[in-house]
Amino acid sequence: MQSCSSALCILILLISTFTTGSESAEPPVKVNLHDSATLPCSERCSGLVKWTVSHKDGDVLAECDQTSCRSVKEGYQMIHDQYLKGNLSLTITDADFTKRGWYTCECDGKDLCDVQLQIEPLNSTVQKKPGQSLVLDLDVSDPVEVIYNSTGAANQSSDQICTVDGCSLECEPEYEERVSAALQLRAVTPSDNGVYTIKTTGDEEVIHTYSVTVQDDQPCLDTDKGPAVPAWMFVLIAALVAVIVILAVKIVQLRRENQMLRNQRI
Ligand SMILES: *[C@@H]1O[C@H](CO)[C@@H](O)[C@H](O)[C@H]1NC(C)=O
Ligand SMILES: *[C@@H]1O[C@H](CO)[C@@H](O)[C@H](O)[C@H]1NC(C)=O
Ligand SMILES: *[C@@H]1O[C@H](CO)[C@@H](O)[C@H](O)[C@H]1NC(C)=O
Ligand SMILES: *[C@@H]1O[C@H](CO)[C@@H](O)[C@H](O)[C@H]1NC(C)=O
Repeated sequence: MQSCSSALCILILLISTFTTGSESAEPPVKVNLHDSATLPCSERCSGLVKWTVSHKDGDVLAECDQTSCRSVKEGYQMIHDQYLKGNLSLTITDADFTKRGWYTCECDGKDLCDVQLQIEPLNSTVQKKPGQSLVLDLDVSDPVEVIYNSTGAANQSSDQICTVDGCSLECEPEYEERVSAALQLRAVTPSDNGVYTIKTTGDEEVIHTYSVTVQDDQPCLDTDKGPAVPAWMFVLIAALVAVIVILAVKIVQLRRENQMLRNQRI
């Protein structure tokens, strides 16, 4: 293979960066699970504007023309006033993991914007006792990999411990998008401490991290004592004892006095 001259290489590099730069100008939109997301697109269009899921022709989510806007699929909105101003944004009212991915806005069949929607990864903190099972929700039906970073060990290591693709999980089509598997790790030990990361296999998007600690029950003296005796009990008992002693002394005194009186009579 012949190497290209450096001038030509630079030219090719410039052209390719310029073209890719103009194609994917929009940064991904990242929102928290179940928040609403606005996918931006600022272009003039005097005709019909449609938002679709990229690479799924015909699956129109919302559209606008000069007279009005329509939500074709529930949960996807465009605003007519904004459309007239050249703001073709799509609002997704409830962003969840099934809605991750790329969306395309087109004007009379011509691509205007491609925008990616991402969901902020979920973070969970989990505490387990040795022998218990750790359950990791996979949250998405896309193929995922599970990465394990150990903690505690002197050397931080990072390992892919599982890859899961939906093949083994068969669902009716209407459930396919909603049902996702869970991964169960039985009989955990303290050596399982660490961070477990669920990532999609294709685009390496982090879906969920689990910070896991496996800990033996702390030997705790307080819990072995049984119910504690409250302080007022001691006070009450002391008072009772004092009353009994005083009564006893009084009785003895009264008897003596009685005895003395009898003796005097005799
Ligand atoms: C565009 O319209 C959306 C609502 O559809 C709104 O949230 C956003 O702020 C608008 N952007 C601009 C630049 O006006
Ligand atoms: C989870 O943690 C990551 C990294 O610290 C952060 O970017 C993300 O926003 C967190 N997710 C939520 C839902 O707070
Ligand atoms: C830790 O990793 C370093 C290299 O990253 C290696 O030289 C060292 O032997 C490792 N230590 C242990 C205890 O595994
Ligand atoms: C796991 O370890 C890898 C490499 O050491 C690091 O790049 C990654 O950020 C770590 N992930 C977490 C969740 O700590």
